[in-house]
Amino acid sequence: MANISGKTLLSANRAIGAALNANTARTQSWFAGVQMGPPDAILGVTEAFKRDTNPKKINLGVGAYRDDNGKPWVLPSVRTAEERIVAKKLDKEYATIIGIPDFYNKAIELALGKDSERLKGKHNATTQSISGTGALRIGAAFLSKFWQGNREVYVPTPTWGNHVPIFEHSGLPIKKYRYYDPKTCGLDVQGVFEDISKIPEKSIVLLHACAHNPTGVDLSLEQWKELSQLIKKKNLFPFFDMAYQGFASGDVDRDAQAVRIFEKDGHLYCLAQSFAKNMGLYGERAGAYSVITASKEEADRVTSQIKILIRALYSNPPINGARLAAEILNDQELRAIWLKDVKTMADRIINIRAQLKGNLVKLGSSRSWDHITNQIGMFCYSGMTAENVERLSKEFSIYLTKDGRISMAGVTSKNVDYLAHAMHEVTK
Ligand code: LMR
Repeated sequence: MANISGKTLLSANRAIGAALNANTARTQSWFAGVQMGPPDAILGVTEAFKRDTNPKKINLGVGAYRDDNGKPWVLPSVRTAEERIVAKKLDKEYATIIGIPDFYNKAIELALGKDSERLKGKHNATTQSISGTGALRIGAAFLSKFWQGNREVYVPTPTWGNHVPIFEHSGLPIKKYRYYDPKTCGLDVQGVFEDISKIPEKSIVLLHACAHNPTGVDLSLEQWKELSQLIKKKNLFPFFDMAYQGFASGDVDRDAQAVRIFEKDGHLYCLAQSFAKNMGLYGERAGAYSVITASKEEADRVTSQIKILIRALYSNPPINGARLAAEILNDQELRAIWLKDVKTMADRIINIRAQLKGNLVKLGSSRSWDHITNQIGMFCYSGMTAENVERLSKEFSIYLTKDGRISMAGVTSKNVDYLAHAMHEVTK
């Protein structure tokens, strides 16, 4: 038997004592049963990226725009709006429960267009929200309380990961419809129409208005028109999520076409809007939620109930981001600068898509990478497997979500060669 000194025994006893104490504390706590949760599928990627010390590291996880130096970009229009707001020396009073009217009225007008009959007739119940997630959250809470039809929400496969918990937390179970075809890295047209035609009547169907997240695959205008008719015939309730208006084509009106088709076709629907991406107001949390109802009187009733929900959720929204957006949307000159800013961001992404694809071809990749340029918006659904993605992070310090989604906003003229090389290596 080994010779153990008194000192060693003493410290061993202390260690056992400490472990027992920790254990007792653990079992005695109210929260002893709380299990460690997994990191967020998207935001957790940034945490892993930050821990990496490799100077060549690239973050292609979260959908947040970067300029060609890989730096966050505060839009020139936003900078000017900020200066103007500071100069006004506004107070810091609460906004109303549904926010700042100069903001939310312009937000819905940006989506539906000035000529919308519904807006003229005030059929919209619109409220400011804590960005797009907050808008979805209000929508989920509202529908959870008032939806009279089938309580299931049908989402595309795949969809933004956060859609699922947002609706489920509100007691609205998620069901799926086919959307993306991994064989073509494009739209599963037949799947979309077949599955949506089988959804039980009076269900809620979630639609990405443009720049589908995570796939970058959208319906064509003709397909949207057809889908609008199908959804009408099947008596479904469309819930649009428009987080990327302007990012798909660089033109906010063009990107709103899907919503405007449904608007023209007379649907009642709801819409979540975000200004995180198209105004770069990520941390400012500016968004809007609208229910398009049958009349002004109905819209007023809906608004009254949404106010009651919001009051209990967070009382009233933050003011700064909404003021910035309102300054831009209400001023012709500033709005014109903003529209250019949006185009600058969209164009940079369109260009870098072409460079990434070109590089992969030059490196002799035997795969087809056409989808990199066919897909639109901030993301490229690359078709890389979870294994490929793991190798990218382990061997090249390149971080993206496990599903192979590349946030193209993180690709720059400086890192595109390195990225193409790494992608080629892991997909050989
Ligand atoms: C994304 O999909 O990366 C963005 O919408 C950011 C987020 O909150 O997930």
